Amino acid sequence: MKILILNGSPHRSGCTMSLIDSFVKGAREAGHAIERYDCAMLKIHGCTACEHCGNGLHPCVFNDDMTEILQHLQTCDMVVFATPVYYYGPTAQIKAALDRFYSIDNWLREHPKKAALLTVAGDADEKVFAGVLGTYEGNLQYLHWQDCGRITAAGCLTVEDLRKTSYQEDAYQLGRQL
Ligand SMILES: Cc1cc2nc3c(=O)[nH]c(=O)nc-3n(C[C@H](O)[C@H](O)[C@H](O)COP(=O)(O)O)c2cc1C
Repeated sequence: MKILILNGSPHRSGCTMSLIDSFVKGAREAGHAIERYDCAMLKIHGCTACEHCGNGLHPCVFNDDMTEILQHLQTCDMVVFATPVYYYGPTAQIKAALDRFYSIDNWLREHPKKAALLTVAGDADEKVFAGVLGTYEGNLQYLHWQDCGRITAAGCLTVEDLRKTSYQEDAYQLGRQL
C-alpha cells in the first residue's frame, strides 16, 4: 500500500514524531511505501470558502504545498492523521490541510481509502481526545473511509513521558500489522 502521513505537530522531535517513526518502521517492514508531510513546516493556506474549486471542478486558488499533498491523496491507499491535542482538538496546521480536502471533496467521497490516527496529549484522561476523535470519526463516516486503528497516547506531555509507555510499540504494531 501507499500510505500518506499528515503530521500536524510543529515539534520535530516530539511525541507525535516519535509515534510516526514507530508506525513507519512497522509499515515499512510490512512492505508499505510511505509519504510523510509535516504540515507545520509547509505553506498550507486555510480554505477561504471561495467555492472556486466547485469541490473538484477546478484546482484550488491556493497553489501552495497542499497542491502536492492533494496529488498524493489521490494516489494513496491510506491516510494517517497524526496530531498532538491542542486545546482539545487537532492542531491548526493539520486542520488547515484537512480543510483543503474540500477542493477534491466529491472525488474523495467516491474513492474509499483506509485511515488511521496517531494522537498524543499531556492530559492522562482519555476524554481529552474527544475533539480529535470526533474530527477523525466524523470525516471517516463522511468520506466513506475505513478505520484501521488509532493510537491515543494520553499522559504524554514530553517524549520522556512517551518513552515510559507502550504507545510507541503500539504504533509500531499498528504499522506492522496493516
Ligand atoms: C498550544 C498547545 C496546546 C495544548 N493543548 C493541550 C490540551 O488541550 N490538552 C492536553 O492534554 N495537552 C495539550 N497540550 C500538550 C500537548 O498535547 C503535548 O505536549 C504533546 O505531547 C505535544 O506533542 P508533540 O511533542 O508532538 O508536540 C498542548 C500543547 C500546546 C503547545
